[in-house]
Amino acid sequence: MHYKPANKDHNLPFDPFKACVGPRPIGWISTVSKDGVCNLAPFSQFNNLSYDPPLIMLALTQQGVEASEIRRKDTTKNIEDTGFFAYNIVPYNLKDAMNQTAAPVPPEVDEFELAGLTKEDCIDIPCKMVAESPIKMECKLVQTIRIPGNTPKTTVDILIGEVIHVHIADEFITPEGKVDIVKIRPLGRLGYFDYTTVDSVFSMRMPVSNPKQLAAMEGRS
Ligand SMILES: Cc1cc2nc3c(=O)[nH]c(=O)nc-3n(C[C@H](O)[C@H](O)[C@H](O)COP(=O)(O)O)c2cc1C
Repeated sequence: MHYKPANKDHNLPFDPFKACVGPRPIGWISTVSKDGVCNLAPFSQFNNLSYDPPLIMLALTQQGVEASEIRRKDTTKNIEDTGFFAYNIVPYNLKDAMNQTAAPVPPEVDEFELAGLTKEDCIDIPCKMVAESPIKMECKLVQTIRIPGNTPKTTVDILIGEVIHVHIADEFITPEGKVDIVKIRPLGRLGYFDYTTVDSVFSMRMPVSNPKQLAAMEGRS
């Protein structure tokens, strides 16, 4: 089958679009408002963009009744007001807490408290991180790219941040010095109501003979 997303002519009972690019990592993004309220929400239109400079991005859909009254999500507002956000990885054992933080609650509600999570101070930026999450990154906003949606009522805001500090819990580093991703079991977002976890890993070397290129691929210091 084939279809045009603009026409939604897939003739399936469920829109397949989100199921066709996956699994997607989940950026569990913590921010603070300019009034000091902590905020936490998951985003799967999220990824690592580059490593030099180390950039990550998230894309948020904003809605409003009139084009002039687009209602920005708390995450977008806080990042644009303060210039900072933190990424927290979502291990399988925090899946329910992650889900709770997706509730559409007003900006005065602190989703750390809503989901019973512990706040950990960042080192270089003003917001908090999820203490229970084994990998966290402190990020500084570099740029927002605002793309109009198909109706004047929506925009997609792509927020790009530079990673300025990385935290990895020591117990998730293997004896050979690599991140033990299978021990973390991070969630991946699929389509519909579906998720997956990273439960196995295999290795494959790029077909290049230059040892420097291979070392770069492996991330060898
Ligand atoms: C697994 C998961 C992934 C999500 N991904 C996105 C996303 O990529 N973009 C988006 O705008 N909303 C996404 N959402 C919805 C937001 O988490 C939700 O709108 C949340 O209430 C936003 O919170 P905020 O207003 O505090 O920023 C996702 C929800 C879940 C459960």
